Amino acid sequence: MASILGVFAARKNAESTNIKQPLAMISLADAPTARLCCDAGVDAILVGDSLGNVVLGYENTVSVSTEEMRIFTAAVARGAKSSRNPQTPVVADLPFGSYTTIESATRNATELLRAGAHAVKLEGAGKSSLAAVRALCEMGAPVMGHLGFTPQSSLRLGGIVQGKTAEAAEKLLNDARALQDAGCFSIVLEAVTSEAASRITRELEIATIGIGAGTGCEGQVLVWHDLAGMSEGKPFRFVRRFAQTHETLSQAARDYVSAVHSQEFPSEAHGWTMAPDELQKWDTDKNGSDG
Ligand code: KIV
Repeated sequence: MASILGVFAARKNAESTNIKQPLAMISLADAPTARLCCDAGVDAILVGDSLGNVVLGYENTVSVSTEEMRIFTAAVARGAKSSRNPQTPVVADLPFGSYTTIESATRNATELLRAGAHAVKLEGAGKSSLAAVRALCEMGAPVMGHLGFTPQSSLRLGGIVQGKTAEAAEKLLNDARALQDAGCFSIVLEAVTSEAASRITRELEIATIGIGAGTGCEGQVLVWHDLAGMSEGKPFRFVRRFAQTHETLSQAARDYVSAVHSQEFPSEAHGWTMAPDELQKWDTDKNGSDG
């Protein structure tokens, strides 16, 4: 079985491994979807803290706790294991505030790895993120980095798209190098200009996974609710809806309500009946005891 590190490294070393197609990763949060995506051949799963928005109804990812991530990670790991591709790697997000110290990073990563993740992801390349990466790698936990638009610090970032100026692009490149040197096996680049993402990808020895980062990365990741067309409203430019499930599911809900209201559902065919002799016995017993 290829380790998670092998799966990502194979994309970087496409020449020698002959795996030329980019890695397809999906960010998702429940067992049946994990199973469905693994059966469909996804190369890796992310249990992203975007589940705070798309599943839990929070306004941003800052509200997501490690306990919530643990529960969803365990569900996804069970779904992946029950699929036809049970070895599919699962990466789980360390949520906001869970890796500010080495002690909290190692404790919370341990929770997610014990829940079934093969690796953890954290955002940024500041002092505490780098210290966390080093400590986690030292204890044997594979770590994925995340640069560019980092939702956990969206309250501080100016705008979505990162790496627009030469200075900003150079800072991203230096941050990516620092994460690589600290031990990350791969880095997600979110909403990064194509030029910056391609250059970072060329200069790094580890695989980059893009989301709104052009076509030059070694892999791509999208959030399941976005790609399945479940989210409402206008999607970000980097999203493609591969299905229109919001419309389909809304129609299913409307049809169900209307069928119940009109008493068209359920019909007799949706239930069970007692054997006639049992019904008669019950009626007799009941009449007997009543009388
Ligand atoms: O939380 C998430 O789903 C993510 C991806 C968008 C990369 O971090």
